[in-house]
Amino acid sequence: MGRTGQDGLTASAIAHSNIALAKYWGKRDSRLNIPAVGSISITLDALSTETAVSFSPDLQADELVLNGGSAPAQKASRVLDLIRERAGIDLAARVVSNNNFPTGAGLASSASGLAALAVAAAAAAGLELSSRELSIAARRGSASAARSIFGGFAELHSGSAADGSDSFAEQLMPAEDWPLSVVVAITQTEPKSVSSTEGMLSTSGSSPFYDAWVESAPAALDELRAAVLARDLEKTGALTERSCLAMHSLMFTTSPPLIYWNPATVAVIRRVTELRRDGIEGYFTIDAGPQVKIICEPDRAEQISASVAELPGVLQTITTRLGPAARLVQSP
Ligand code: DP6
Repeated sequence: MGRTGQDGLTASAIAHSNIALAKYWGKRDSRLNIPAVGSISITLDALSTETAVSFSPDLQADELVLNGGSAPAQKASRVLDLIRERAGIDLAARVVSNNNFPTGAGLASSASGLAALAVAAAAAAGLELSSRELSIAARRGSASAARSIFGGFAELHSGSAADGSDSFAEQLMPAEDWPLSVVVAITQTEPKSVSSTEGMLSTSGSSPFYDAWVESAPAALDELRAAVLARDLEKTGALTERSCLAMHSLMFTTSPPLIYWNPATVAVIRRVTELRRDGIEGYFTIDAGPQVKIICEPDRAEQISASVAELPGVLQTITTRLGPAARLVQSP
């Protein structure tokens, strides 16, 4: 990866969103943004972000323009600080980021956005970083972004080093090795009221089940990793649902409670379970919001999408295959 752009301090990159099959919830270090538990995810083809970064002596502070509007640059600055430190530059940056998926659809864009930012910022600063280093840089912004550096199936390690140097993601399996589909059921378009960052800090300080979650995470992760590598959909699906429900149980038992679901979220969960009983195999997962993602074989996606789309409160469905790694966009 080299410099792109005319002045040598500008570069653009694309990264795809991801959803966790084994969830990350909780941090072992807030300042360095190191997760308390490992996680396993799939990268999604249809949901991507393109991000351009320009370091400039004309700027007083980092600026972020997200989907055409000015937005807080705090998470972006954490990634940029690491890149500036590595490159030995002392310039603020302008970051322009656009999602290709419906704006305000309540779909996580921080994973794709901050992964694209890490790739673009490193290139703009003239650094040639490994995927592992890029993943560490993206993690500083948003831990889930560390996984979006990779395509297909990725695992983010919580590590044990105090400086977070062993908390990086790596690819578990390329998308071609197990080409699954994901149906996303959108049940709300307003942004969530409590961010993941705030929510998980609140959970670790108040849920009586938080310690059990952290203690049980390594074994749960080993089990899921083995199921994924064996391409066992039934097992992968069951463990995915279990991790999702364990995370939401932590959220429910947080004080004050974090209830991200709405009635349509529950209706979709029930429909997915009924469809499975009828031999149409799909498995749900839900992040810190009310949307439901359903993992299935590609030849089941249309039936599942049509079935959940008819439920009251389901506003839209998006079907996607697994996506590729984050990459630079070469300037013309
Ligand atoms: C529920 O990565 O957005 O989607 O590191 O604080 O930015 P920060 O949090 P973020 O949290 C994602 C939480 C999740 C589960 C997951 O993606 O593993």
